[in-house]
This record gives sequence, C-alpha cells and structure tokens, in this order.
Amino acid sequence: MTGVDFILLDKVDSTNTYARKNFSSLPDGCVVVAVEQTAGRGRLGRQWFSGKDLSVTATAVLKNISVPFHAGVVVGLAGLELVRECVPHAFSFFKWPNDIYIRDCKIAGILSEGVLKNGKLQGVAAGIGINVNNDTTALRVNGIRAISLQEVSKQTFFVEKLRIELAKKIKKYYIMCQSNPDGILTLWRQENRLIGEQLVLDLPSGESKQGKFLGITDSGAMQLEDANGGVFCFDCGDVKIDTSLIDFNSLKEKYMNEL
Ligand code: BTN
Repeated sequence: MTGVDFILLDKVDSTNTYARKNFSSLPDGCVVVAVEQTAGRGRLGRQWFSGKDLSVTATAVLKNISVPFHAGVVVGLAGLELVRECVPHAFSFFKWPNDIYIRDCKIAGILSEGVLKNGKLQGVAAGIGINVNNDTTALRVNGIRAISLQEVSKQTFFVEKLRIELAKKIKKYYIMCQSNPDGILTLWRQENRLIGEQLVLDLPSGESKQGKFLGITDSGAMQLEDANGGVFCFDCGDVKIDTSLIDFNSLKEKYMNEL
C-alpha cells in the first residue's frame, strides 16, 4: 500500500502530546512515530515506559471519525494484526477496553484522546505502544505483568520495519472504518476473547466488581453480569485477570483451532 503519511521523530516527550499540539497542521490519517519517548503516557494518568528503539510508539491523527471510540478500535486492530504476524503461535487478544494481551500479560496499550477546538471535537489522537525488544521480565504496571515480542518469541525484531507495517495497517483499518464502521466493530468484538469469562473490574471510584463479561455495547461499554444476575454497563475501568478464574489453555484451543 502506498501513500502512508508517516512522521518519524527521533525524540519526543510523547507522540500523543505531539499529535494533539500539532493536530490542525498534521494531515488526516498520518501516523506520528518516535524512536524515543521521554514522557510516554498511559491510560488513567499512568506512565508508559519504552526505551529508545525498543518498542513501537505511535499516534494516529484521525480527523474523520464519527464515533470517537472507533479511533481506538482502528489502532487496536492494526496493533493486534501486527502482534499476530510477529508471534503467530501466541494467544493474543484484546482485553477491554483496548489493551492487547498474550494470555495474562500485556504486550500493548492504547491511549485515545479527543482533540477539541473551541469546545468542538476536531478528531482523535490515538496512540499505541507495543513492547518489542524490551526486557519486560520485571515490568509490572498496576500489578499487571508486561511482556514483549522478543520475550514471547526469543527473537529480536527490526523495530523500524514494524513501525512502517503498523502505519500501513492503521491506514487500512481507518479506511475500513469510514466505509464499514459496523464491520470493524464486529471484528473488534470478535477479538475481545475474554467475553464469556469471569473478570474483576476495578472502577475509577476504587470499587471492584466481579462478574461474567457478557459483551460490549455499540458505544464500547462493557456489560458485566454479577452473581445475582444483575447486568451492569461500564464505560471505563481496569479489568483484572484472575488466572484462577480463566482457563487459558481451553481458550487458546477454542480460538486458535479456528485459524
Ligand atoms: C495504556 O496501556 O495505558 C496506554 C498506553 C499508550 C502508550 C502509547 S506509546 C505512544 C503514545 N504516546 C503516549 O504517550 N502514549 C501512547
């Protein structure tokens, strides 16, 4: 595919911050990537750690997006496809709201931020960080174990090539999103492979809710059924994977036999 707008920065605080600051002058659909981020940001005010040239850190400038949460879907599908191509035998999937996991370890995270001008939404800066050649063995964020492509495959990857591949995939899913938003939402739901499982959701209020993950609404909210059969919808929160509640071997068998 040709015509991917790709802006490579050597060193920047955060590609999301850069994309937001320069949003109006950046072309729609361009992807800002950085060799090094000095102040990478994650969801819920967290930091995103990524050493120089060890991970893919990128932000897509998406101006033509009718439903803001679809920006995370576009970038998420591109990231998941790239992870699958790099480690095809690993069980990779989305963990709601938009992280990419390999079993119970996080390999990539997405941070989508709406950009406003005079109170009006101009579009979304949708950032993704993928752990590639970094040593994540000791990395825990909010108690969650991180993992990298290198750790999964015992191979070193050519980060420069992965950045370009990611930008191409973002372009593909952005085009698809404009022509068939329901189609990419269906794809994204299919890749949320913890649907049907028992999960614990930590809410921003500090409360936790355990229940069965029933599905995802059209606006991206998670539906959780508690032990009394009550169904609750949540727009944000942090899903905790309790490995005593999820049988990853059967899940892997169920989904990977479909391939
Ligand atoms: C999360 O898991 O909490 C989201 C992490 C998002 C990290 C990426 S790296 C590229 C872009 N720039 C940032 O500062 N954050 C996102």
